[in-house]
Amino acid sequence: TYVVTDACIACKYTDCVEVCPVDCFYEGENMLVINPSECIDCGVCEPECPAEAIIPDTESGVEQWIELNAKYSAEWPNLTTKKDAPDNADEMKDVQNKLETHFS
Ligand code: SF4
Ligand code: F3S
Repeated sequence: TYVVTDACIACKYTDCVEVCPVDCFYEGENMLVINPSECIDCGVCEPECPAEAIIPDTESGVEQWIELNAKYSAEWPNLTTKKDAPDNADEMKDVQNKLETHFS
C-alpha cells in the first residue's frame, strides 16, 4: 500500500484523489490519508502529488505514517474529487515536521 506523509499537512493539493482508481483517499481538516485495506498499490498517485507526500509503505521510517493512515482513514470522510488547496499551500510545502505544528 501507499501512505500519505507529513508533506501533505497544510498543503492538501488533492491531485491524488483525481487519479486513484479505487477512490481510497480520506479527508481530515489538514491532510488526506489512504485507506490501506482499499489501496491496490497501483502507484499512480505518487507522482501526482506536488508536495511529494505519497510514498510506498516499504520505505524506511514510514511506520508512524502507516499507523496514521490506517487510523484516520477509518474515521474521516471519503474524498473523490479535487478541491482548492489552502491559500498558503505553496508556502507550507517545504515546511518540515508539520505533524507537530499543523496537523490539527
Ligand atoms: Fe489509489 Fe493507487 Fe494511490 Fe493506492 S497507490 S492510493 S490505489 S492511486
Ligand atoms: Fe496531499 Fe499531495 Fe494529495 S498534498 S492531498 S497527498 S496531492
